[in-house]
Amino acid sequence: MDQRPPQASPPHHRPFFLPSRPYLFKGHSTAYTISCLLLLFSFLLLLHFLTPLQPFLLLRIARSHDSHPDTACDYTFGRWVWDEGRRLDAYTEDCPFLDPGFQCRRNGRNDSSYLYWRWQPHGCDLPRFNASEMLERSRNGKIIFAGDSIGRNQWESFLCMLAKAVQNKSSIYEKYGNPITKHKGFLSMVFHDHNLTVEYYRAPFLAAVGRPPPASPDHVRAAIHLDALHWQCKRWIDADVLVLNAGHWWNEKKTIDA
Ligand SMILES: *[C@@H]1O[C@H](CO)[C@@H](O)[C@H](O)[C@H]1NC(C)=O
Ligand SMILES: *[C@@H]1O[C@H](CO)[C@@H](O)[C@H](O)[C@H]1NC(C)=O
Ligand SMILES: *[C@@H]1O[C@H](CO)[C@@H](O)[C@H](O)[C@H]1NC(C)=O
Ligand SMILES: *[C@@H]1O[C@H](CO)[C@@H](O)[C@H](O)[C@H]1NC(C)=O
Repeated sequence: MDQRPPQASPPHHRPFFLPSRPYLFKGHSTAYTISCLLLLFSFLLLLHFLTPLQPFLLLRIARSHDSHPDTACDYTFGRWVWDEGRRLDAYTEDCPFLDPGFQCRRNGRNDSSYLYWRWQPHGCDLPRFNASEMLERSRNGKIIFAGDSIGRNQWESFLCMLAKAVQNKSSIYEKYGNPITKHKGFLSMVFHDHNLTVEYYRAPFLAAVGRPPPASPDHVRAAIHLDALHWQCKRWIDADVLVLNAGHWWNEKKTIDA
């Protein structure tokens, strides 16, 4: 489970001020936020038209198998189906990139029914995940997950799925030597032989979180700045694929705690 967001900024005189890196952004927070958003947006547009990375296209568009062979199929439009004929076997809990807390079976889960659900897009089928193909298509690329612990789960699963196609497990490593245990910043896994980086940024709100405004009551320990992306967002700009997730922390208890 997630912990509270870190509080890591000196006090400020304005309530809505990008807090985390004052020496960089002091007096320029709005401009910074806008340029960050613009860059991110133009990057997404660019990605849409120019990406050399195939997995992104693969995920969005596939030829339909129905009676309209020239219609693109949107993989995001579909439903979960129970399929006893297709047990998920993309990886096991022996995978070295799983947090102990995310190893369901070792932590006592004794059913395996969750392994039989698969995503069924309307009008076409998803090809089965093929790790070596995915690695090849992602060569020289950067794939980033940012969000809460659900995003972290997805990131770890993805690492484990890719790692199945890598013989030499030592050729997969954290760029800065950080261990994959509970970690508060970001982790950058390198698939050395494919020059591929798969990163995770812990950003439960995706927005910036910092000190409360001056003269706040004592129980207000932090402020969520809805007008600013997470202070690490400048590191997301050169991603070929950016996977964002949020939601779980936007509940009354957690936003009020923040
Ligand atoms: C699995 O867990 C359920 C609920 O905790 C329990 O009733 C059941 O006996 C367990 N089955 C096995 C095989 O341990
Ligand atoms: C995965 O993809 C590779 C390369 O495209 C292919 O050679 C291999 O047969 C595929 N594996 C499966 C299980 O489909
Ligand atoms: C590795 O990929 C990066 C882009 O992520 C690229 O700039 C670099 O040239 C690549 N290195 C090699 C050796 O291909
Ligand atoms: C495995 O990968 C590591 C790190 O890239 C490398 O130093 C080592 O030589 C590789 N081992 C083999 C058997 O290829």
